[in-house]
Amino acid sequence: MPSDPRPSTVLRPPNETAVNAPYEPLPADHTLVLKVIPMPSDANANGDIFGGWVMAQVDLAGSVLPARYAQGRMATVAVNQFIFKQPVRVGDILSLVAKMERIGRSSMTVSVGVYAERIRNQGHYIKVTEAQLTYVAIDDEGRPRPVPVHDLAP
Ligand SMILES: CC(C)(COP(=O)(O)OP(=O)(O)OC[C@H]1O[C@@H](n2cnc3c(N)ncnc32)[C@H](O)[C@@H]1OP(=O)(O)O)[C@@H](O)C(=O)NCCC(=O)NCCS
Repeated sequence: MPSDPRPSTVLRPPNETAVNAPYEPLPADHTLVLKVIPMPSDANANGDIFGGWVMAQVDLAGSVLPARYAQGRMATVAVNQFIFKQPVRVGDILSLVAKMERIGRSSMTVSVGVYAERIRNQGHYIKVTEAQLTYVAIDDEGRPRPVPVHDLAP
C-alpha cells in the first residue's frame, strides 16, 4: 500500500532530552508560594508550555507576599523583568518561589523564580523562569492607597 504523502498532524511527544541547565536547590531566601502542574491544554504546537500561561502563574504567585502587606485590593502595575530561561513542559511540577524586594508608599516589588522538576527527574530543580513584578495597593475606587503594613516578616 502506498504511504500517505500528507504531512503528519500527529504531535511528537515533548522533547525530554537533557537541556543544558544545571540542577539547583530552591533559594533559601525565597518563600514557596505556589505549586502547579501544566497540562496538555496549556501547550503550544511544539509541545512546550505557552509563555502566557507561565506569565499568568507568575502574576498569581507574585501577588501572594504583597497581599500580606496590602491587606486589601491591589493591582499589578508593572512587570519589571521577565526571563524565560528554559522551556516548561507538560507534566513538570513547577515550584514558584517569591521574595519581597521593596515596599514603597503604595507599591510593592517582588522577585519570582519558577523551578521545574521534570517528570522523570523528581527532586531535581531546574530554574525555568525569573521575573520581577510591582503591585500597587488600591482603594475601592481603584486609586493607589498607602501600604498599611511595612514590618511583616515575609
Ligand atoms: C495601578 C494604578 C492604580 C496606579 O495608578 P497611578 O496613577 O499610576 O499611580 P501612581 O503614579 O501614583 O503610582 C503608584 C505607585 O506605583 C508605582 N508605579 C507606577 N508605575 C510604575 C511602573 N511602571 N513600574 C514600577 N512602579 C510603578 C509608583 O512609583 C508608585 O509607587 P509608590 O506609591 O510606592 O511611590 C493604575 O496604573 C492602574 O489601575 N493600572 C491598571 C492595573 C491593572 O489593571 N493591572 C492588571 C493588568 S492586566
